[in-house]
Amino acid sequence: MQQRLVWDLPLRLFHWILAVCLVVQWFTAEVIEDAMDFHFYLGYFILGLIIFRLIWGFIGPKYARFNSFLAGPKAMLSYLKSIKSDKYTPPVGHNPVGGLMLPLVLILVAIQGVTGLFSTNEIVHSGPYYHTISDALQGTFQWLHHQTFSFLWIFIAVHIAVVLWYRFSLKHNLIRPMLHGKKPVSAEHSIGHSQLLKAVILMIIVAIFMYWLVEVAPPIPEDDFYY
Ligand code: HEM
Ligand code: HEM
Repeated sequence: MQQRLVWDLPLRLFHWILAVCLVVQWFTAEVIEDAMDFHFYLGYFILGLIIFRLIWGFIGPKYARFNSFLAGPKAMLSYLKSIKSDKYTPPVGHNPVGGLMLPLVLILVAIQGVTGLFSTNEIVHSGPYYHTISDALQGTFQWLHHQTFSFLWIFIAVHIAVVLWYRFSLKHNLIRPMLHGKKPVSAEHSIGHSQLLKAVILMIIVAIFMYWLVEVAPPIPEDDFYY
């Protein structure tokens, strides 16, 4: 069958840019010294990515939408059983179990980004909302900022292992379609095009919102706050 578009370009860019950014973000916090400024800016960018993908999950093309792949436990179980059967045909979009990766990543990275806004490295770098909450709540957010990343690593490791298992055990290559967007499907199952104009407008709106959130909205600390 002819190769036709299934994964839109914004979804694919979101995926690969997020993957690279999360690795870089870890390096800027844990390995590279004096990279906190960069960590903050990349953190804002990642928060923007997450907001974009959340909204794209409602207004994007068919297979980017949550309602095309979020499923209940029943559908997940019957999918898992079907993998072993001879009649197994892989779904065009995310499968009911793999579809869990998106909400999981969105939630964990959102926690990471939002708690970052309230975190400090207790030297010179504090998130723009650090001074707006009580010490106890700030401590909790900072703790969450440290812990959430470990969960994220676990899910990412499982995700990559599963994708490789599909590739080498089931002989089903999911990686290539995530790169070029195409799968061998009939015309009625293809998305046609990536809805780029809509994506660019959404990107601009999200960028303006992020600028407001980190540059305009944070209240200025009292003069004696740091003394
Ligand atoms: C930091 C690393 C990574 C993160 C956070 C991540 C996250 C995600 C998310 C959220 C999705 C759903 C995409 C969407 O609907 O927008 C996804 C799908 C996918 N990812 Fe990753 N990913 C990572 C690394 C990788 C790597 C290294 C590979 C390749 C080996 C990979 C291969 C895939 C594939 C093939 C899919 C589509 C699965 C399907 O067909 O249902 N990912 N990933
Ligand atoms: C959204 C993606 C983000 C990721 C993946 C991320 C990841 C991390 C990681 C892995 C650490 C090291 C934690 C540890 O030492 O155990 C860290 C530290 C830190 N992050 Fe983030 N971060 C993000 C966003 C942000 C944002 C938006 C800010 C602030 C505006 C921020 C501020 C900080 C600060 C101040 C520290 C140092 C805390 C300390 O030294 O105790 N992060 N981040």
